[in-house]
Amino acid sequence: MTISFKDRVAIVTGAGGGLGRAYALELAARGAKVVVNDLGGARDGTGTSDAAEKVVEEIKAAGGEAMANGGSVTEYEQMVEMVAKAKEAWGGVHVLINNAGILRDKSFAKMEPADFDLVVKVHLVGSGYCTKAVWETMREQNYGRILMTASSTGLYGNFGQANYGAAKLGLAGLTKTLYLEGAKNNIKVNTLAPVAGTRMTEDIFPPEAFAQFKPENVVPAALYLVSEEAPTNMIIGAGAGAFHAAYVTMTQGAALPEGERTPEGVARIFDKIIDRTGETVPQSGSEQAMTIMRLLQG
Ligand code: NAI
Repeated sequence: MTISFKDRVAIVTGAGGGLGRAYALELAARGAKVVVNDLGGARDGTGTSDAAEKVVEEIKAAGGEAMANGGSVTEYEQMVEMVAKAKEAWGGVHVLINNAGILRDKSFAKMEPADFDLVVKVHLVGSGYCTKAVWETMREQNYGRILMTASSTGLYGNFGQANYGAAKLGLAGLTKTLYLEGAKNNIKVNTLAPVAGTRMTEDIFPPEAFAQFKPENVVPAALYLVSEEAPTNMIIGAGAGAFHAAYVTMTQGAALPEGERTPEGVARIFDKIIDRTGETVPQSGSEQAMTIMRLLQG
């Protein structure tokens, strides 16, 4: 099976460097017309530059087709305009990779509310805005592939990244509702948790690991997850050529009879509540209530 993006139009946010650039280059190499979005700021989100234009030049030099967009994912109108320009030039938008991101790391005790706001705004609200900007187009086309970028911090936690972790798990939540709403129009929505040596992680990785975790090693997962053959509602981790899946599961649980529904009752059956035997992976929120009903019926 060859995965081709011929005649597909793809938008990659934050594609002026790091992972986004690597996605954009490979999408273009496989035939996609690519909107390279990036406001070109610093790691903390300050400033602007022509980072997007530079990646477009690289794509064109390799014989591909691309346009630069310097809009910020935090400005909904700019995202609407970006989608309109892509449609005007190329007639549609088939792929969206929500990748733009910044860091404002600090322990929660020292974190300013403004740093909490901005990080959530860029990652979570920004991905919501871009997705909203392409959603109607994808519905009309009966075709759409959307990738959200989560992180191990969002899925599992990391000291000093409360703002980032909240936004990143929020993106997995966004995937879980959009995959349901998009299903009837052939819109598939997935979440990627990458691990890569970029400017975002340059002070975390030792130099040898930095090379091994090059962004190009995450590209295969990202491109598969936005391909025609893509699954939907998956959370996939990728780094250094290794790949895995993450799931939000539910235990079988246990019920307390009427009269015993007290905090003490919960304490008594807590081991049973958290026992992972027979754990399931619900495909929608309603499965929680259904599991409860089944449990009550014995
Ligand atoms: P990066 O800093 O090289 O790339 C992020 C890009 O987003 C930058 O080029 C930046 O200018 C752009 N950007 C920031 N704010 C923007 C805005 N408002 N509008 C448009 N563009 C904006 O970092 P990297 O590592 O390539 O990160 C890409 C994504 O992967 C991010 O969402 C990051 O949180 C995520 N990620 C990366 C990991 C890693 O190990 N590198 C681990 C987990 C997640």
